[in-house]
Amino acid sequence: MPLILTLETTCDETAAAVIDASLNVLAATVASQDKLHQKFGGVVPEIASRAHLENILPVIDETLRKSAVTLAELDAVAVANMPGLAGSLLVGLAVAKTLALVLRKPLIAVNHLQAHIYACKVAFKENPFPCIGLIVSGGHTSLYRCETPIDFTFLGGTIDDAAGEAFDKTAAMLGLPYPGGPSIQRIAETGNPKAYRFPRPLLNEPDRLEFSFSGLKTAVRYLLEKDGVVAAKIGADVAASFQEAAADCLVGKTLQALKMTGMKTLCAGGGVAANKRFRDKLTEAARQADIRLYIAPPDLCTDNAVMGAIAVERYNAGLFEDLNLDIHAGLIRKTR
Ligand code: KG4
Ligand code: ZN
Repeated sequence: MPLILTLETTCDETAAAVIDASLNVLAATVASQDKLHQKFGGVVPEIASRAHLENILPVIDETLRKSAVTLAELDAVAVANMPGLAGSLLVGLAVAKTLALVLRKPLIAVNHLQAHIYACKVAFKENPFPCIGLIVSGGHTSLYRCETPIDFTFLGGTIDDAAGEAFDKTAAMLGLPYPGGPSIQRIAETGNPKAYRFPRPLLNEPDRLEFSFSGLKTAVRYLLEKDGVVAAKIGADVAASFQEAAADCLVGKTLQALKMTGMKTLCAGGGVAANKRFRDKLTEAARQADIRLYIAPPDLCTDNAVMGAIAVERYNAGLFEDLNLDIHAGLIRKTR
């Protein structure tokens, strides 16, 4: 059975996996850079690319060892070459091209956003396509119409910050460590989600498939800047109220997209989709609206190379790349 090595270096995780054509994961490794970026409260692109350079070969080596697969036994090398931070993408791409050249094996391009949605297929071993795809992470908050695993059409996305960015910035304002999403989730557990009524932008405009998170973040800042408000005292309530508003925006807009398109299946992925409150709200909303819902399991929501299993689809379709393949850093509207 064909074996594919998948590489992921789009942002700040260096990851590799060995996957077979039946989507079985033989081994997977993620080297997180969270500690390096912590003191800056967000990902610093140059630090990220240098860390990828240090980590990528040890991560591949460890993954091959765990899988008991040799380089010579691989049938293809896949790499996420879009979208993401340019310097980070270049490291993975250069390594993948080198391996493909030296091993004389096909090179496969992975679209990171498609991979986030494909994580649902890998996890549930069911075919969710066609579906609406919600990708909600530190760099993206986008809705796509996903006809097949590799045919996506952009429906709408954030007009300012990504949801994960809002979590990260709000956490920083509350003095909580990066990445902000898990920090907010943790302290929100002891907070009152109704303590503050933060804005839910664009939710009352059902025909507009767009998100906006900068107003929500600013509302938190104004609250914290008010005289006498001490972040340490009200942190849990602010975190819970912020998380509630962010989840309402994500769930509300996604339901509007399903209604507008008439689609009945939804897949959600990306780091913010690991959020427990968001998952609970989306599950309940999908149940009420009779939507078939797949949310990637939390460890496949944050960046990983297992979701690069989408390369199997391209392998089976014979969609291989030349060695002059380039990266694509920005938003992608139509994919093939
Ligand atoms: O998908 P991902 O690992 O990287 C990108 O492609 O951006 O997403 C990272 C983002 C960060 O902003 C992080 O704070 C957020 O996902 N995140 C969460 C949670 N876990 C990670 N946000 C909310 N709740 C979580 N549990
Ligand atoms: Zn991602």
